Amino acid sequence: MENPIAAMNPEGHLSWDTDVLIIGSGAAGLRAALAASEHADVTLITKTTLTESNTHYAQGGIAVAMNLDDTIALHIKDTTAAGAGLCDVKAVEMMVSEGIPRVAELLDWGANFDWEGTLPRFTQEAAHSRRRIVHKGDATGRETTDVLIQRVRNTERIQVLQNTFAIDLLTDADASERHEDILTCYGVTAIVEEQIVCIRAKATILATGGLGRIYPCTSNPKVATGDGFAAAWRAGCEMIDMEFVQFHPTTLFLDGAPNFLISEAVRGEGGKLLNIRGERFMEKYHEKGELAPRDVVSRAIQIEMDLTGFPCVYLDITHKPKDFILERFPTISDTTKHYGLDINIDLIPVRPGAHFMMGGIRTNTDTQTNLKGLYACGEVACTGVHGANRLASNSLLECLVYGARAGTNATAFARSQPEDPPNIPVPSNVGPSLAPPAGEAVETHTEATKNAIRETLWENVSIERNGEGLQETLAELQDLTANLENLLTNPEVKDVATIETVNMLNVALMITQSALTRTESRGAHYRADFPTPNDPTWQRRVLITRDNPLEVVPL
Ligand code: FAD
Ligand code: SIN
Repeated sequence: MENPIAAMNPEGHLSWDTDVLIIGSGAAGLRAALAASEHADVTLITKTTLTESNTHYAQGGIAVAMNLDDTIALHIKDTTAAGAGLCDVKAVEMMVSEGIPRVAELLDWGANFDWEGTLPRFTQEAAHSRRRIVHKGDATGRETTDVLIQRVRNTERIQVLQNTFAIDLLTDADASERHEDILTCYGVTAIVEEQIVCIRAKATILATGGLGRIYPCTSNPKVATGDGFAAAWRAGCEMIDMEFVQFHPTTLFLDGAPNFLISEAVRGEGGKLLNIRGERFMEKYHEKGELAPRDVVSRAIQIEMDLTGFPCVYLDITHKPKDFILERFPTISDTTKHYGLDINIDLIPVRPGAHFMMGGIRTNTDTQTNLKGLYACGEVACTGVHGANRLASNSLLECLVYGARAGTNATAFARSQPEDPPNIPVPSNVGPSLAPPAGEAVETHTEATKNAIRETLWENVSIERNGEGLQETLAELQDLTANLENLLTNPEVKDVATIETVNMLNVALMITQSALTRTESRGAHYRADFPTPNDPTWQRRVLITRDNPLEVVPL
């Protein structure tokens, strides 16, 4: 179906007005849209299709303290232990306690999770002291998005615009009548069918998800290029904890196969890790073996790969009955089978990949950013619930809780605003495209730059880091930015690939600079030149903004 913005006014400046604009159609954006639509007209835009998001591919499940032997206090304890001293405890308490009604409501709306008698079938994942993960086989994300999307589609006050790529936040930074120190956000510019349009809103919610695609090995789908982090930073948002990128220990490593996650639940159900010599190795690294925290398992795998000179290790679940595997891991079974692997009898080749960003746009527990009228939720936001390392299956919980809060709070703000949109200057790049779509030369250039970013990050800013390597990558990223400068200043460039490349560079620089600043190891950030945590000196957070050099701030 044609995008209604493009159909609106094909000649002049294109603009679209709404009360609440939501950018992103993962769990956070969808849940925010449902909450916002209770009292406002909502426009939800998404880069490709409604279903394409990290959420859709989530496998393991949603952590929630609903099991008979579980408590809110235990879930908080496990979350803050994983966060290694950097969690915002108030935000964690809110996520864990409000998570219970949010998950109950999802079940009520029809989420067909696995059950055992009168309770959901709770599974185990690493660093949880209880079996507390509700799930639908290994396709929890698909079930969750299906339920939320159906509800969004049935809500009249929500207008969905697919294939609408948000570029930059509209702010009053350039408005001559601006008198306040605090910037206000009035929506975004976006690409719709090779035109740049303005989408103006009384309140805006960024729910653009993660950035795994800035690394060559990742569990994330193509849409995860860090666009929201970059747009927020360019607009003046405070960015926090950007050095904390989580690497999932087990992504599939198979010739010809795409990026694909092998859920931690496979280890939760007894899967064992073996090196190329067939030796089980996790006991050497941690008392919890395969169920040690993710950063420990990822580092251990990397060490085993280095020791044996082999590019992967193996995950063995062959001891489990075939029926169990088929019922519990149907997606993993089907996908691996497609590439000639039968996980009932074959070992699964795996290696770590970039999975989740703990840091992001700094928000309070009401999901407000430092820009008036701008809210952020889900993976792009940093409320502080994950600290230095996220506990498995806490992300979908965060999306449901803080997505709902963002929708409610953004709506209240929108309702307090005047009816007519303010007179914000239209950015010069808005309007129909005068140039033909990006040519082959631009495409080759952007693809080469994307690959260069990925290679240098993988080399120096991934599972293990050190000062020298980080400096090397910083210099390389600065060179790449300079090379791209002529493309950036060309108002005719209106293609998604170029803007994605700029976004990837922006976030790669933020991660590298923050990682250089934190001269210790904590959670997912491991510095070989500073291999231990340094308390209390580093029980602080690294804050980065466009106009200020890096700052170290208290928790
Ligand atoms: P996403 O679900 O990523 O949605 C972001 C949306 O923003 C997408 O629709 C995207 O297209 C859109 N978007 C991005 N950029 C733009 C732009 N420029 N313009 C317009 N739209 C844009 N967590 C758990 O808790 N449990 C799990 O079992 C689990 N399994 C996972 C398995 C995989 C393979 C992956 C990748 C992640 C998993 N995670 C899991 C993490 C979790 O899925 C994500 O952190 C979470 O779903 C993020 O949700 P979100 O709504 O913030 O973002
Ligand atoms: C997984 O299924 O291993 C992913 C769970 C998560 O990232 O929370």
